[in-house]
Amino acid sequence: MDKLFIEGGSVLKGSVTVSGSKNALLPVLAAALLTPEKCVIKNAPALSDTNTMIRIIKNLGVQVEVEGSVIKIKSGNFKKFAAPYRLVSTMRASFCVLGPLLARLKKAEVSLPGGCVIGVRPVDLHIKGLKALGASIEIKDGYVCAKAKRLCGKDIFLGGAFGSSVLATGNIMMAATLAKGTTVIENAACEPEVVSLADFLNKMGANIKGQGSPTIEIKGVKSLGGAEYENIPDRIEASTLAIASAITKGEVTIKNVIVKHLSALIEKLEEAGVTVKRGKNFIIVKRNGSVKPVDVTALPYPGFPTDAQAQFMSLMSIASGISVITEKIYPDRFMHVPELNRMGADIYREGPYAIVHGVKQLNGAPVMASDLRASAALVLAGLVAKGKTEVLRVYHLDRGYENLDIKLTQLGAKIYRTKQ
Ligand code: EPZ
Repeated sequence: MDKLFIEGGSVLKGSVTVSGSKNALLPVLAAALLTPEKCVIKNAPALSDTNTMIRIIKNLGVQVEVEGSVIKIKSGNFKKFAAPYRLVSTMRASFCVLGPLLARLKKAEVSLPGGCVIGVRPVDLHIKGLKALGASIEIKDGYVCAKAKRLCGKDIFLGGAFGSSVLATGNIMMAATLAKGTTVIENAACEPEVVSLADFLNKMGANIKGQGSPTIEIKGVKSLGGAEYENIPDRIEASTLAIASAITKGEVTIKNVIVKHLSALIEKLEEAGVTVKRGKNFIIVKRNGSVKPVDVTALPYPGFPTDAQAQFMSLMSIASGISVITEKIYPDRFMHVPELNRMGADIYREGPYAIVHGVKQLNGAPVMASDLRASAALVLAGLVAKGKTEVLRVYHLDRGYENLDIKLTQLGAKIYRTKQ
């Protein structure tokens, strides 16, 4: 297990290129199970979550080749329909093989992913949607066992206690591509990762309209074919790098971004006194003055992303005043709060709110990464803290960021990776 040592105080300067999106890639890999033909996916980030999804797909008896950032999947006539607990429990996104398995093989057994450090994370919407398409589903020995003679299109309202669901929208959309008739998903997630998945499915021959809006219409087709696809840039990595520049009073050009995907973050950075210059596929993030306190609410897209909430809290922890950070997607996603407080931050959490009293200086300390984005928040705090920060359990970071420590080092950060 690795850990990171960070010597705070460097000002980040230069330019950095964002990798392909983890959260767009994972369902796209699952979608390749919908056709026996070859799919080629480019700009895939080398991450441990990517490897987990590849292991799940290989475990079904499917051929997968990885050449650098290109992944080739040819599912042929695979017959296995189970995704085991030992793999699904390590990564929730693996649950999105359920829809494709059911559509292609008429049955699927996928382990329930279980709880997670960022909250309860139920899968009721996935199950509700697939049942509406005609699947019979029972939970047996911790597995979702689904069967369907033929999936049939239906109008489905896919809203839960916390609004839309990204992966449930993806799962139902994938299953509906091969269903008989038309499916309409109301209250669909509008995240760019859903759009990316729909675009890939359309390249495979699906007939999907409305992606990116709350109403998605899927006209079922008889079969899907192979396709080549270029994965979209990772908007959360871009956000993390933008906050890294802002927190260190740096000036960093962040290349390979879709600027529109970053609107909510850019707006909040600007409110905080950070200058963001927008280019065609890059942004330049620069801070001169102090950080102003800004209230932020994590919401479904196009709102401020929950996956950047922890990192933004690190920035607010050195603001010149009080900010309130509200989490409307995962009300318990605050594992970073006690760790930031160990570094001298002054954050009080009450339910889904964190009240952040900005402090003049954070101090280096040993801290524990608890999940992917919390780890990134601690790295960002370490960049600006006085002295040395030791971030333990960085395997969380490696699940979702391709070479973040190396990219930050190239921008001037002092980060060293060692064995824990
Ligand atoms: C995706 O998870 C992302 N994961 C998450 O990124 C991200 O935080 C999340 O979307 C929200 O943007 C991947 O894409 C692999 P949801 P997902 O279903 O789809 C509730 C990261 O750090 N809900 O949109 O699983 C749920 O509990 C990760 O990269 C139900 O109630 O999230 C939450 O409150 C972490 N029932 C809300 O909906 C369900 O059946 C939104 O979750 C499903 C979800």
